[in-house]
Amino acid sequence: WATMENDVEAILRLKAERNAVVLAHNYQTPEIFHTVSDIVGDSLALAREAVNTEADVIVLAGVHFMAETAKLLNPDKTVLIPDMAAGCSLADSITAEDIALLRQRYPGVPVVTYVNTSAAVKAASDICCTSGNAHAVIRSLNAPRVLMLPDEYLAQNVQRDIPEVEILTWAGHCEVHEQFTPQDIRDMREAYPGVVVLAHPECPPEVVAEADFAGSTAHMSDFVSQKRPARVALITECSMSDNVAAQNPGIEFVRPCNLCPHMKRISLKNIRSALERMEHEVTVPAALMAPARLAVERMLAVRS
Ligand code: 13P
Ligand code: SF4
Repeated sequence: WATMENDVEAILRLKAERNAVVLAHNYQTPEIFHTVSDIVGDSLALAREAVNTEADVIVLAGVHFMAETAKLLNPDKTVLIPDMAAGCSLADSITAEDIALLRQRYPGVPVVTYVNTSAAVKAASDICCTSGNAHAVIRSLNAPRVLMLPDEYLAQNVQRDIPEVEILTWAGHCEVHEQFTPQDIRDMREAYPGVVVLAHPECPPEVVAEADFAGSTAHMSDFVSQKRPARVALITECSMSDNVAAQNPGIEFVRPCNLCPHMKRISLKNIRSALERMEHEVTVPAALMAPARLAVERMLAVRS
């Protein structure tokens, strides 16, 4: 009896045939994260690893801005995203025209943009940051005032730690993290005594203030594996807890969490079809390539 090749087997075969790698963000489901992924991590790790890969094809199991960043750093490689509609509410909240207007309004003030932005927005900025290196990037500028766009809450959370710099921001929010409230955390503490609460800095500052620790998805994962709290709540996207729990047996993970509809557009089925059909290819307009890449490379050059 010939056995039908399942999605995981097909993806592993296709990766070898195409000399392809799968880069997966921490918010991908466990069935993607723990089976077909070559590199997993936060936005910063995915950008860093995209530079190192020897593969000809990169499949980005994540959202569109992550695939664009991989393309900026690998102009000669084929970068595929399994679903073109995997967007991001932060990336949708600001345009390059908005940045041009801000530059007119605040002449000489450096523009730091979150990697959760389009290539056009990156091209209009001076340097990028992620939640994993935002503090180091702001400090590296040695400026009294910076524009940090478009995530208002990330900017406010960083502002609290770096009061000596005036951080101007924008009204963009992550549709997943903006839903958490301080009451959610107080309720968890009551229902699960001793729970250690880790929040992503895309959460509102009043939520971060209720947490025990705030950091990028990689920072949260490191915290759990290094400190091994008996009971932990990750105030972030749901798959994060599933993935970190699988790597840390014996730790109790407290829910609820929120799903990112964009991240959840990626599945084993569409990763397989991306590799079978070599679609959907992510490209960056030639005129944006050099300036957008420069903003990302400046970020990667900052030690964090
Ligand atoms: P990090 O993995 O960089 O913390 O980003 C979180 C996020 O929301 C990505 O979409
Ligand atoms: Fe964007 Fe938030 Fe989804 Fe990340 S979790 S892709 S920041 S909407």
